[in-house]
Amino acid sequence: MEPVYFDHAATTPVRPEVLEAMLPFLNTSWGNPSSPHRFGRAARAGLEQAKREVAEALRVEPHQVIFTSGGTEADNLAVIGCALVAGHAGKPMHVVTTEIEHKAVLASAHVVVQHGGRETFLPVDGNGVVDLDALDAALADSPTIVSVMWVNNEVGTVQPMAEIGARCGAAGVPLHSDAVQSFGKLPIDLDAAGCRLLSISGHKLGAPKGIGALIVRDRNAVEALVHGGGQQYGIRPGTENVAGAVALGRAALLAVRELDAHVSTVRALRDDLAARLRAAIPDLVIHAVGAERAPHVLSCGVPGAEAEAMLMHLDLAGVCCSGGSACSSGSATPSHVLTAMGIDRALALGTVRFSLGHESTAADVDRAVAVFPGVVERVRKLGAVLGRA
Ligand SMILES: Cc1ncc(COP(=O)(O)O)c(C=O)c1O
Repeated sequence: MEPVYFDHAATTPVRPEVLEAMLPFLNTSWGNPSSPHRFGRAARAGLEQAKREVAEALRVEPHQVIFTSGGTEADNLAVIGCALVAGHAGKPMHVVTTEIEHKAVLASAHVVVQHGGRETFLPVDGNGVVDLDALDAALADSPTIVSVMWVNNEVGTVQPMAEIGARCGAAGVPLHSDAVQSFGKLPIDLDAAGCRLLSISGHKLGAPKGIGALIVRDRNAVEALVHGGGQQYGIRPGTENVAGAVALGRAALLAVRELDAHVSTVRALRDDLAARLRAAIPDLVIHAVGAERAPHVLSCGVPGAEAEAMLMHLDLAGVCCSGGSACSSGSATPSHVLTAMGIDRALALGTVRFSLGHESTAADVDRAVAVFPGVVERVRKLGAVLGRA
């Protein structure tokens, strides 16, 4: 039996339409987009088209699209790049972000601290929603940038971006959002959210790994982190990944065109999976159910069972999902996201994430429902024998 894939928040397969769009830029139009001759011009045309497509999908201007190597680099460029502007202007560098960000943002904030700046982490409630009073207090403390992820990758919580943006706007502080898990899953309106900087990543929406973008509404807001030629206005120099950019452009347009249909399909499958797993495992805890959640994520805490063992048994049975987040799986420390939400250590270590995508089907859900309760029973028994339950 073919394995079923429930790890779309970690990565997605490249969509056939996306592969078709990018292949000519590997096979025939492989020139350097900075070259003035016909090879270069063909590549440049692809790059410009890709910029227009990403811009159209996010309703921004093409010149506001800065291609990066992915979400991690986009987050670094936003947070550190913004702090550098402040530092070079002789102003204090102060990054305000949340306790549940992806490591790409958390680690960037730490870098700013290592270079003499400050970091403030906003707490979240039990559903992973950011504390707006804490944001107000932080805004009174002259931040350089506020960075709040649109959708959390581990539990799917959607943040109240319009309220956050309004507060940042009133305080005159630029707002960055890591939209890696929300683009293609929710409507993204940067103006309504008051968002000046936005990170996206191709491999979460059917483009290959190694391409992403930072939307930069105001070019003076960030300084480059890598230095070289003048590509991309010097904000992100280096010969552009043309095929990757073309793939991102196509994937972005498809994501926006198909958004409504995709969301209703994925949400229905996710909710069916949740309801049937709850029925089979009555003490299953579904995280963040009290908040608005992105449609593709289902984070389940299983009392008395270790995630690592469950994931291994699930994989053996052909059901592939992840614990907490892919980056932190393999380590026995509970996820920082679940910890910030006040989830106790044992339940956090017993949490698995199912995440759905384009190819997910009702048959995949049937398979997970057929397999998961048995896995939970086995792992619980094993835990009891080993004295861990
Ligand atoms: C919310 C979030 N931000 C950033 C990233 C990093 O993106 P990339 O893998 O493109 O570097 C991820 C990927 O897991 C993510 O889920």
